[in-house]
Amino acid sequence: MSATKLARGGAAAAALTLCAGLLTLASTSASAAPGCSVDYQVNQWDSGFTANVTLKNLGDPISGGWTLEWDFPGTQKITNGWSATYAQSGQHVSAKSPSWASSLPTGGSATMGFNASYSGTNALPTSFKLNGNTCGGGPTSTTTSTSTSTSTSTSTTTSTTTTTTTPDNPGDHVANPYAGAKGYLNPDYVTNVNSLADATGGALGTSMRKVAQNSTAVWMDRIGAITAGRGLTGHLDEALRQSAGGTPVVIQVVVYDLPNRDCAALASNGELKVSENGLARYKAEYIDPIAAILADPKYRSLRIVAIVEPDSLPNLVTNLSKPKCAEANTSGAYVQGIQYALSKLSAISNVYNYIDIGHAGWLGWDTNMGPSVTLIANTIKGATKGVNSIDGFVSNLANTSPTDEVNLPDPNLTVGSQQLRSAAFYQWNPYFDEADYGTEMRNRFISAGFPSGIGMLIDTSRNGWGGPNRPTGASGSTVDAYVNSGRIDRKLHRGNWCNQSGAGIGARPTAAPRSGFDAYVWIKPPGESDGIATKTDGPNEEGKQHDPMCDPTFRGDDQANGGNLTGAMAGAPHAGSWFPAGFTSLVQNAYPAL
Ligand code: BGC
Repeated sequence: MSATKLARGGAAAAALTLCAGLLTLASTSASAAPGCSVDYQVNQWDSGFTANVTLKNLGDPISGGWTLEWDFPGTQKITNGWSATYAQSGQHVSAKSPSWASSLPTGGSATMGFNASYSGTNALPTSFKLNGNTCGGGPTSTTTSTSTSTSTSTSTTTSTTTTTTTPDNPGDHVANPYAGAKGYLNPDYVTNVNSLADATGGALGTSMRKVAQNSTAVWMDRIGAITAGRGLTGHLDEALRQSAGGTPVVIQVVVYDLPNRDCAALASNGELKVSENGLARYKAEYIDPIAAILADPKYRSLRIVAIVEPDSLPNLVTNLSKPKCAEANTSGAYVQGIQYALSKLSAISNVYNYIDIGHAGWLGWDTNMGPSVTLIANTIKGATKGVNSIDGFVSNLANTSPTDEVNLPDPNLTVGSQQLRSAAFYQWNPYFDEADYGTEMRNRFISAGFPSGIGMLIDTSRNGWGGPNRPTGASGSTVDAYVNSGRIDRKLHRGNWCNQSGAGIGARPTAAPRSGFDAYVWIKPPGESDGIATKTDGPNEEGKQHDPMCDPTFRGDDQANGGNLTGAMAGAPHAGSWFPAGFTSLVQNAYPAL
């Protein structure tokens, strides 16, 4: 499955390839007389495709604008495009330079792209003209052939050169950024962990040290985080240093500063507000500088995973009764902010965007899942590259839902003539774990038009649920007895989310752990708090507040936790701050054990 994802921005080209009934990846190369070369890559989806075109000028410098022309061999029809102005008459296409990029020095390149529909066969253009001169003959794009992109059963070659994508070219957009890469170790996090390990000592200290060997995400949780301390460039420079030796490094950056952030809760409220021009500030003061830094060619060899806006769109599905969510919805701030972020970030070939999809215990009911897929899909489709703006989706971000509810594999199993999913803990939600949930969400997104190569991520940083209370089987004559004896998710209520006592570190970050999944990841760094446990006098300087769900003595009476205690640990500091007691508990309850 991983072979089917478009290699965006790569220099090499591939044949039109039919693999297990799926049209996957196609591109063609044509080169100049000397004058120009064109790398034309196609990502095939249901009844259409996206083309990413790189034009290279091999002739004299061009200053007054350029036009690239070609003829489609078939019924291809451009529906929308970017980074050029397209005109199509019948099969003939012209792509004119945008006003902001009208010059092209000798050896300079222009990249552009478009979405198109077609019927029948999607054969590739065989010839291109730059300002009236046919490309061909000059230096060609790379023609190395590797087997990492597709396995060919039938191929139609319509151009002079055909290759599959070479994944190791720095800056190439590979199918799964985690495959063959090592994860970035954030030195600031490593210091927190190792200091506590030293102070703790003994066997527990040794276990703690092992945590520091795993990659965690870097959170850009406010405008100031871009430059404060190590800052984004400091992390990227360090990631470059860690890539010495040749293995590519994947660094995960969490984009997390939408106006009205965390709109249904208080713990992670942010600095920007819709009512205070927050969307404009988000674009200009937050996304633009991040995109500018990530686009620095110096960082091209890094695989930069962008985790885009945790908890945002899911809140627009289930929490519109909360005023801040309603405002984020009616103003369009969340949707437009995410579209802006995706448009900017997807233009950088070594950035991989993953969108948050909540978790099984939040959106698993069909009444939530259907509208979530619609909202999230439509949001992404409104970004510049549409469905190709993202590489996949991430579930369980900063949450504690198990990857596999191993003792309860079948939600429809009947006990005492009731289905397990009717148990009080599941409330008819048919998704008990993240593996089933992610698989279903992936299928639904593909049905909604996304490429079949999209990959899922599960945040396993705190979903281990090991330790002495982990059940090894299920038994009982009623559904509730059976479910409560067997579930490894020991939360008091499935809606609890803050600093859960009893939760443990889960599976270590792993690339391609199962079909359809790009990786298990640690996005929430284990040991960083979800929210402050005690009441505060209003927000702190970053906007964070006390949420009752972080108070261990609070017994909610709404849908958040159905009147159960919150299960939150006492003594926790503000969201994001280092919480040694929380870290210790996560290590003690790790599964697999450290
Ligand atoms: C906080 C962020 C923090 C992140 C990782 C979130 O809950 O709001 O400030 O960076 O967790 O710990």
